[in-house]
Amino acid sequence: LAKAEVELASIPEGKNVTIKWRGKPVFIRHRTESEIAEANTVNVAELRDPQQDAERVKDPKWLVMLGVCTHLGCVPIGEAGDFGGWYCPCHGSHYDISGRIRQGPAPLNLEIPEYNFQEDKLIIVV
Ligand code: FES
Repeated sequence: LAKAEVELASIPEGKNVTIKWRGKPVFIRHRTESEIAEANTVNVAELRDPQQDAERVKDPKWLVMLGVCTHLGCVPIGEAGDFGGWYCPCHGSHYDISGRIRQGPAPLNLEIPEYNFQEDKLIIVV
């Protein structure tokens, strides 16, 4: 199946859900207002892979990304690490609440798949 659908109402604010899409985990986080604010206070110029939060989301409430560490492909753990986001236990990469790499060996931010919103659903596409 090249397409995955998720009912947004099934994910409460402040929670993560992981789905499988084309054999890979996709992380979906329903971010809180304070998490969105935090994601926007970062000085992007200091990041290894400089990206504004707004470049990584279609709707700031919803962060959607591949759950594959950009170092060597382990699956990071949610609500962990020193930057309020994800932590990859394989070699210690820390990602922030926008999925941006902040510390550790990973070279890039967690990848954003193509997705759309349709009414009350999130549709992840090829
Ligand atoms: Fe994630 Fe190495 S695979 S830190």
